[in-house]
Amino acid sequence: MISDCLSVNSLGHLTISGCDTIELAQKFGTPLYVMSEDKIREVCRKYVLSFQKYYDGFGCPIYASKAFSCKEIYRIVIGEGLDVEVVSGGELYTALSAGVPAEKIHFQGNNKSLEELSYAVKQEIGDIVVDNLQELFHIQDLAEKAGKKVGVSFRIKPGIDAHTHEFIRTGQIDSKFGLDLQSGEAFQTVRKALTFENIVVRGLHCHIGSQILETLPFVHAAEVMLDFFVQLRQELALEPEFLNLGGGFGIKYVESDDTIPYEDYMRLVSEMVHQKCREQGLTVPKIYIEPGRSIVGEAGITLYTVGAIKEIPNVRNYVSIDGGMFENPRYALYQASYTCLVANKAGNPAEYTATIAGKCCESGDLIQENALIQPPEEGDILAVLSTGAYNYSMASNYNRNPRPACVMVSQGIPRVIIRRESYEDLVRNDI
Ligand code: LLP
Repeated sequence: MISDCLSVNSLGHLTISGCDTIELAQKFGTPLYVMSEDKIREVCRKYVLSFQKYYDGFGCPIYASKAFSCKEIYRIVIGEGLDVEVVSGGELYTALSAGVPAEKIHFQGNNKSLEELSYAVKQEIGDIVVDNLQELFHIQDLAEKAGKKVGVSFRIKPGIDAHTHEFIRTGQIDSKFGLDLQSGEAFQTVRKALTFENIVVRGLHCHIGSQILETLPFVHAAEVMLDFFVQLRQELALEPEFLNLGGGFGIKYVESDDTIPYEDYMRLVSEMVHQKCREQGLTVPKIYIEPGRSIVGEAGITLYTVGAIKEIPNVRNYVSIDGGMFENPRYALYQASYTCLVANKAGNPAEYTATIAGKCCESGDLIQENALIQPPEEGDILAVLSTGAYNYSMASNYNRNPRPACVMVSQGIPRVIIRRESYEDLVRNDI
């Protein structure tokens, strides 16, 4: 199985962290997001341990909550010793409501509104990641008015191409995110920040892409960033406290995805950082990394009920389910690969070629094309694996479909962490 929290029981049913998925579907209805708390905690611990083992625990992983944001996930990751990254006032509000200490919050985004910035300043969050010069001016302004000092870091474009899907690549020069190194834009912005009374320069940040399945681009990005540390020390006598290397560690969607052990990453980065700091006489900075997908991705599955099956001779077999692009838009957006299976027949051979279709009024509303699954029948439960990241968080109410519930499971015990939306929820803001 793609994730070690999944298995098949004696009834031939797919299980997740000891729960029978067919029982979950019966009890909580479909479509249903199911997340393994055990798996999420296991990944968090791997990251935290890798910091202790290879970097003397100097710094920590930050959970990039755009991957999956709700109160319970913040409670879990904070409990495991991670910090939290938010990218909107809404994520910030959710994190604070869940009890995340403000100093553990890092606020990203290329166009944070004045309202969002003001909220962050008032809440005294630990780190606003400055994306551009205008934003720096706004933060200084708001901080001065509020009579506060604000800790910031800077989003830098290291100019690394991390070979991933074009839509989710963010580190290269032609990117809406961050400050350019080569042109001097990054340097000028940091220099400006040092002249502002209410700004405390804390760190530098970069992020080179997402679903990356190799370590080299990360190490290379760290090296480029440390060269910038050297320049800042030489020219501005500045030694930032931390270096945030972003997220992007790939996960297994299909068997052929060859993932990197997460520990390897800190080992390699640590070697490089220590060597470079020795050579250049730099103070070793704290390191942060910002994984989102890899914390929650493989821990999640989605369960559906199979409805209409349309076999078009010599064309394809459409297997329709009760979800679709409204709760998982990733195939429609990125042609993302997924492993699908019939959960109540999980022990049988997967020998039926299916195009899994959603229920939205749109031909492109597919979850997967030409997936090999067990021969399906109406009423079967279909499971799509590795849906823990960027599914619920990217869901919408397209066609006025209510968002599914999310159930967290641990050691055989399920609990609802996000209720299913009702029709009343759909009209709540309608006048
Ligand atoms: N830090 C920053 C600044 C980011 O922009 C991102 C992701 C992360 C951390 C977390 O990266 P991760 O470890 O999750 O790869 N919706 C797309 C993914 C977009 C990722 C955007 N930024 C998808 O469904 O694949």
